[in-house]
Amino acid sequence: EVLILEENVFDDTAADIAFAQLKKKPHSTIGFATGNTTVGFHKSLVKKILDEKIDKTKFSTFNLDEYVGVSSKDPASCYFRMEEQFFKPLQLGKDQINFLNDISEQEDLQLRCTQFDQRIEECGGIDLQFLGIGLNGHIGFNEPGTAFETNTHVVDIALHTRESKISVFGSLDKVPKQGVTMGIKSIMMAKKIVLLAKGESKADIIVKALAGPVTKDVPASVLQLHPNLVVVLDQAAAQIL
Ligand code: GLP
Repeated sequence: EVLILEENVFDDTAADIAFAQLKKKPHSTIGFATGNTTVGFHKSLVKKILDEKIDKTKFSTFNLDEYVGVSSKDPASCYFRMEEQFFKPLQLGKDQINFLNDISEQEDLQLRCTQFDQRIEECGGIDLQFLGIGLNGHIGFNEPGTAFETNTHVVDIALHTRESKISVFGSLDKVPKQGVTMGIKSIMMAKKIVLLAKGESKADIIVKALAGPVTKDVPASVLQLHPNLVVVLDQAAAQIL
């Protein structure tokens, strides 16, 4: 299912999907993605949850990815952004939040990743996974070439992606070279996936991802194989679809 929306209803529509899931199943597990695309969606969802006074102590959150060697107190970390946009305004309990945060280069990175997949399994899998898309088709930090069978893992972040994050970190040399991310397999195991994209810069990659061949050169193209995918686009991102 592909929804093409006016920009002013994009965030509310994404939030409605998450909100409906929480209403249907208070113990839901929801997977979130950081990035510019999801800021307004998170804000809208917080508002809906607070306005409608639904029980916000029952659901669990998982986040897709994080930089290695960046503290969760650093405003550039995915954790910090999620905390400001979502965890703090909702005052979620620590046990509701599952995050690959505060990973130092020194620790056993793969162990943290494996534990994360185990945690997803313990929670009964992810009910609803939100995704953004990178300009090269990455989902999470799964860059082109990543095998579709990957579980949560450590990645070298592509130069292209690092360059697109200069505004977040200040300069290219400050953008971390490694990250941890849910793997393509971990993502595809979610019961439902919502891919969000807005803006003209995403128009080309959206065509490749949704209408091109399913190939590991375009990681998001794997989503064509998911039985329960919703794509939410603004008109700019959908303009050549
Ligand atoms: C990053 C993140 C992804 C995110 C993507 C899109 O690289 N690792 O999880 O979906 O960029 O970001 P934006 O929404 O800012 O375009």
